[in-house]
Amino acid sequence: MFLLEKKKNRKRMSEKIKTNKSLNDEEIYKSLIPQIENLISVEEPIISSLSNITAALKESFDKISWVGFYLTKGQKLYLGPFQGNVACTSIEFGKGVCGTSALKKETIIVENVHEFPGHIACDSRSNSEIVVPIIKNDFVYGVLDLDSYQFSSFNQIDKKYLEMICNLISKKLPIEKLFYNE
Ligand code: SME
Repeated sequence: MFLLEKKKNRKRMSEKIKTNKSLNDEEIYKSLIPQIENLISVEEPIISSLSNITAALKESFDKISWVGFYLTKGQKLYLGPFQGNVACTSIEFGKGVCGTSALKKETIIVENVHEFPGHIACDSRSNSEIVVPIIKNDFVYGVLDLDSYQFSSFNQIDKKYLEMICNLISKKLPIEKLFYNE
């Protein structure tokens, strides 16, 4: 009985993200990281943790118009959990910002998406973007993609903390067992 109550409480607590929009981005990330650690659950399907991470990010930053995961299957990235408008469902490795990040195994910050060769415009109102790969044992299991309607929304602060989040995902979750790779 006690255990059940405890479990229920944990689920209820995870419904609300503590966020203060008057803080600067770095302060918001600092308060968000431990909350994201709590949202990562190894007892439940990976997709549940990833879904909550997108919600936590979208709730925390007004500058984000779209945030989501693209997950690797073969040589393509497929749309995973996200918050925002309907988006492209598959992206080849090497294509667009997501595919380029996955191929190069590095974070890409795009201040003006209209100047990025091959940018895939899922939402024509998007003006800047950041994509962070999720890497484990040198394999890219997917990417975390954030879009903004403002130009130059993302910088080294976002890179630092979003990479931290992707590292948490690859360290804490058995990401290699994602159903996309079965
Ligand atoms: N702009 C991305 C495509 C995904 S959407 O932004 C959701 C790209 O160029 O890879």
